[in-house]
Amino acid sequence: MTRATLEKEPHEVAAMFDDVAAKYDLTNDVLSLGQARLWRRAVARAVDARPGQRVLDLAAGTGTSSLPFAAAGAYVVPCDFSLGMLREGRRRHPRLPLTAGDATRLPFADGVFDAVTISFGLRNVQETDAALREMRRVTRPGGRLVICEFSHPTWAPFRTVYTEYLMRALPPLAERVSSSPDAYVYLAESIRAWPDQPALAARLAAAGWTRPAWRNLTGGIVALHRAHAPS
Ligand SMILES: C[S@@+](CC[C@H](N)C(=O)[O-])C[C@H]1O[C@@H](n2cnc3c(N)ncnc32)[C@H](O)[C@@H]1O
Repeated sequence: MTRATLEKEPHEVAAMFDDVAAKYDLTNDVLSLGQARLWRRAVARAVDARPGQRVLDLAAGTGTSSLPFAAAGAYVVPCDFSLGMLREGRRRHPRLPLTAGDATRLPFADGVFDAVTISFGLRNVQETDAALREMRRVTRPGGRLVICEFSHPTWAPFRTVYTEYLMRALPPLAERVSSSPDAYVYLAESIRAWPDQPALAARLAAAGWTRPAWRNLTGGIVALHRAHAPS
């Protein structure tokens, strides 16, 4: 069983996702207490993919996060570096052009995407700032970025209850539904260590994205960050 540490060696992260691939989507639904579908709808609205547009869904895993963009008529490229997740994705969604690639060295030319999005993936990338710069490189001038990531609840009492859920209730729950419960201990630890909403917005600006802004979902358990590539 593979569990990445917070130092997040890339091969450990990829191996950890290889292990959870088969039950990944089901586990997500259970552990997010049904909120995952709601968050995905909010991402689809924020990306606002139009027919014919090119959308990169980075760290797409099994491709589930890519489906709303394909449904909107966009040409979506799901990209991930876990071959286990990609294999599971190809079995489930044979029509998606699932692509192997590392977020910090994307196998795409400059400026080819109208929008780049990453759901529940950026936190797992070892070199976050390098990935933010790569995402900007492959986005056309004026194109948009949408990041959906676990964040920090804004209301202190709720933050306390949520942190208890993460550290105490989630691991035993994961034990019952996941093929690799240790991966969910990593999940809890990595969420706690992740920058809060303003700090992530500042990193977007530092990576060259303009007008970074965010919207909290479910009280800030998740935040949607948006920004644009300079025109
Ligand atoms: C929690 S899953 C999210 C999958 C999907 N976006 C979703 O919303 O269900 C995180 C994914 O990030 C991928 N990942 C982590 N680091 C990566 C990197 N450096 N390059 C590409 N993918 C990466 C993992 O392999 C994993 O499939």
